[in-house]
Amino acid sequence: MDTAELMKQRHSVRQFTDRPLEESAVQQLQEAITAVNQKSGLHIQLVTDEPEAFQAGKAHYGSFKGCRNYLVMAGPPGRDEAIGYYGEQLVLKAQSLGINSCWVALTYKKSRTREELKPGEKRYMVIALGYGETQGTPHKSRRIEDVSDWKEGDPEWYRKGIEAALLAPTAVNQQKFHFTRQGEQVTARAGLGFYAATDLGIVKYHFELGSGKDHTVWR
Ligand SMILES: Cc1cc2nc3c(=O)[nH]c(=O)nc-3n(C[C@H](O)[C@H](O)[C@H](O)COP(=O)(O)O)c2cc1C
Repeated sequence: MDTAELMKQRHSVRQFTDRPLEESAVQQLQEAITAVNQKSGLHIQLVTDEPEAFQAGKAHYGSFKGCRNYLVMAGPPGRDEAIGYYGEQLVLKAQSLGINSCWVALTYKKSRTREELKPGEKRYMVIALGYGETQGTPHKSRRIEDVSDWKEGDPEWYRKGIEAALLAPTAVNQQKFHFTRQGEQVTARAGLGFYAATDLGIVKYHFELGSGKDHTVWR
């Protein structure tokens, strides 16, 4: 499946079935995590079959149900944007394996997660993973004109990049980011809001996929 389709199909899912993650999917996710960690210097970890972080004892915790797998998004401090940029690569990798997800900064049991932190590292947030009871639903979205300087006649790659960014998950669906174009280069800015720097990393990754450009597009 191509990446445009994956971005369209991904929605946050908070209710999961009991089905454990398939072994081959876990293996592929692990390989992707190792590659991402090597590239980024982050310390992202996959935890499987562990109900405590979303308290399986209670039917619902933080509006989640049946979540037993998650990514711990950890690394050195000051890497909020990288957490978003690289985490979203894993979210879309999971989606390609039929695994649903939800970024979770607040509504999980922070004292119950299972992870290893090296000295100086911190846990930023987690990403819930599993086979959803549903595939989720598209979020309400701002318009291209609301989040960029896009105007009629601009290059198609620019429009496609912004459209892909608008499909990205952002904290409380705030979509507080803004793109401006200078020729072949683009500036992406985070607005004010909770986790806006992490959101920015996520939307920059979507922009790259949608526009067909790589990281050299950023100014
Ligand atoms: C950085 C970040 C933090 C988030 N934290 C939470 C959270 O604590 N609890 C939750 O239920 N959803 C959380 N979300 C999911 C957003 O609410 C969701 O992505 C947004 O509403 C857009 O919906 P979509 O992901 O289905 O496109 C978070 C998303 C991001 C990107």
